[in-house]
Amino acid sequence: MEKIIVLDFGGQYNQLIARRIRDLSVYSEVLPFSTSLDSLADPSIKGIVFTGGPRSCYEADSPRVDPRIYDLGKPILGICYGAQLMAFQNGGEVQPISEREYGNREIQINHTSPLFSGLEPKQNVFMSHGDQIVSLGKGFEVTASSSTCPIAAYQNEKKRLYGVQFHPEVEHSLHGQDMLSRFVFDICGASASWRPEDFLNTKIEEARALIGNKQVLCALSGGVDSAVVAALLSKAVGKRLTCVFVDHGLLRKGEASQVKETFGSMDLRLIAVDAKERFYAALKGVTDPERKRKIIGKEFIDVFSAEERKLQGTGDFYLAQGTIYPDRIESGLGIAATIKSHHNVGGLPKDLDFLGLVEPLKDLFKDEVRKLGRLLGLPESIVGRQPFPGPGLGIRIVGEVTPDRVKAVQEADAIFQEELAKAGIRPSQYFAALSNMRSVGVKGDGRSYEEAVVLRAVDTDDFMTASATEIPYEVLFLAARRIVNEVHGVNRVLYDITSKPPSTIELE
Ligand code: XMP
Repeated sequence: MEKIIVLDFGGQYNQLIARRIRDLSVYSEVLPFSTSLDSLADPSIKGIVFTGGPRSCYEADSPRVDPRIYDLGKPILGICYGAQLMAFQNGGEVQPISEREYGNREIQINHTSPLFSGLEPKQNVFMSHGDQIVSLGKGFEVTASSSTCPIAAYQNEKKRLYGVQFHPEVEHSLHGQDMLSRFVFDICGASASWRPEDFLNTKIEEARALIGNKQVLCALSGGVDSAVVAALLSKAVGKRLTCVFVDHGLLRKGEASQVKETFGSMDLRLIAVDAKERFYAALKGVTDPERKRKIIGKEFIDVFSAEERKLQGTGDFYLAQGTIYPDRIESGLGIAATIKSHHNVGGLPKDLDFLGLVEPLKDLFKDEVRKLGRLLGLPESIVGRQPFPGPGLGIRIVGEVTPDRVKAVQEADAIFQEELAKAGIRPSQYFAALSNMRSVGVKGDGRSYEEAVVLRAVDTDDFMTASATEIPYEVLFLAARRIVNEVHGVNRVLYDITSKPPSTIELE
């Protein structure tokens, strides 16, 4: 299979580069910068991309490649650090700049280059760098400049080496995808022959080979990612897959039965554990958000371990997880964890006895996972669903979690979902939550002193920042009217219009 290899120098957008290339129907994967020359010489590799990275290439211990890579005869595109390193290892000079350049800049293409063919001479691109190339070695020429960055792009056409100081892979570089496409097709000569089906089949084969005649245990949350892993493994190893679905009583209305129905009809062993009472008991009287998260995480692990112990003796198990690429970025950078302790299966303790991990989706983005889910025949109700946090409604109920409050939030949420669906509005994430406010109202002829529901809907690409969705007033009005009429114990509905930051998407 033809592919483009992305060599990882530690930048933020590495997987995004591979993903953009896959979007062009050419297979691409990220490998460490230390990958051996021998493996890079493989004829199926049509070209190589060097990613950005946080280091300075002139530092003695900076990540580098064997310079013989430039003589492999493969086209190379260096991006940011990758461009600096390639310039530096080929006789150029790189220096720190006095102030880090960050944001959109206009560059002027001032030399013909196959990387820019057919593009306007002025291009708006995204820069993020603290070092800059100040001179190029023999055989190299500048192809684009900006007012602050004289060597914004360069090439050595004879050796098919290309460098760009900016990031073509991010959306802020308006024609970045065109440039990647020129590299992949015109320069590397790759053909648009890769299909997600191929990826799926490879992953099925890999899982089958890894698991061999052993067993695999998959924690199913009802979310897209673990559902896709379960469906994929079911294809790979059939009955040797066991899924454990823990109903912690903090799921959306109807969700538990939907998961049981979908996976119950597949050719796999599904253990559905009704652990509602146990979770409610553990959460009784607890109001601190972090404590709630920790308790939910611990209870989950205890239930999961108990199921695992019951299975011991039936064989040796691998553990399958629905980890996807953004989860790894978040844990790597620790950003999410410092704000909220995210709960997921990745938190399973080491003493759970498994042969190893199976994470077939670990390099994919959410929309790629959804594509695989559709290919695997999962219903749209599972594949198309919005993200739902592991601790579930527990973090959408400010204050104490009680069965009554769970019921109220489930009902309110179902109404909000219905009204948005009727209006054809589909924010990135939307839900009802319970505030910790009780307030005075009037219901019928009497006074009420009841809960306030918060409606939340946000638009976001990456869920790291988000803005409140502008829902038409009539839709909010209808949802609010139905909630106060139909949901017991609620007499007020508020719409949360704050952005993230400074808010977060969930209430806790
Ligand atoms: P916040 O509230 O941090 O949420 O703005 C960002 C995204 O992460 C989801 N989220 C979680 N997902 N376990 C998860 O699996 C968690 O503990 C968790 N906390 C938040 C949230 O729903 C949103 O999509």
